[in-house]
Amino acid sequence: MTAQLLTTLATELNLAKLPHHVAVIMDGNGRWAKQKGLPRIEGHRQGAKTLKEMLRYCKDLGIKILTAYAFSTENWGRPTGEVNFLMALFERLLQKELKEMEAEEVCINFIGDLSPLPTSLQQEMRHSMERTKNNQGVYFNVAINYGSRHEMVKACQAIAEKVQLGELSADSINEETIAQHLYTSASADPDLLIRTSGEMRLSNFLLWQLAYTEIYVTDTLWPDFNHQQFDRALQSYQKRDRRFGKKIG
Ligand code: IPE
Ligand code: IPE
Ligand code: MG
Repeated sequence: MTAQLLTTLATELNLAKLPHHVAVIMDGNGRWAKQKGLPRIEGHRQGAKTLKEMLRYCKDLGIKILTAYAFSTENWGRPTGEVNFLMALFERLLQKELKEMEAEEVCINFIGDLSPLPTSLQQEMRHSMERTKNNQGVYFNVAINYGSRHEMVKACQAIAEKVQLGELSADSINEETIAQHLYTSASADPDLLIRTSGEMRLSNFLLWQLAYTEIYVTDTLWPDFNHQQFDRALQSYQKRDRRFGKKIG
């Protein structure tokens, strides 16, 4: 048992009642850097370390799926220097961490429209997905150039095409059909969504998939989000009464 897991047990987490799938909006990198008088990119660099720690901790606890929002379809609107830094950071991280992900039984998957990303980054992404596709330790979905509305438009187009080809009839389309055409078709919906840095919004993240997800917002900035903070989020989750529209009690 790892030292981290022992720390968790000390905080009285119910290990039998953990979420199966945790999604995270990793926000506040820029503010973290600003508070320290550093350039924004230092916040992103530190944020990547936080994500690595969180993934390891999920695996130690037995949380099966972690989905992280790394770059939104709207984030292209940031200064070119920041966008370029992020693309280079993603590529470098994939090169650096692949061996360890393989050893740790991580199955990495990217969600989002990958086609506008730099070709060399797309290659690293495909390579890491291919190399880890049979791993079952922890499923790690990284949302890059992800936008929920764009995802739904793509799903509608794919479904409409099947109808047009006569493979599907319009009245047989149901919730399952739509879910099957989203990037997340292989994963169950998230049980818990964590957003750091205090913002109370979804910012175009998993709008369909979060229909009944428990939401936890913390003021902590993403680079400062550590095991103790995660324990707090999990403890909050364990106190929730997930009713799914049914009656109380
Ligand atoms: C989240 O941190 C990382 C990305 C969106 C890529 P931000 O860069 O949004 O940090 P703030 O919100 O400006 O502090
Ligand atoms: C959401 O954060 C996107 C990611 C964490 C990748 P943003 O910082 O882009 O969201 P807004 O602009 O505050 O809504
Ligand atoms: Mg932000």
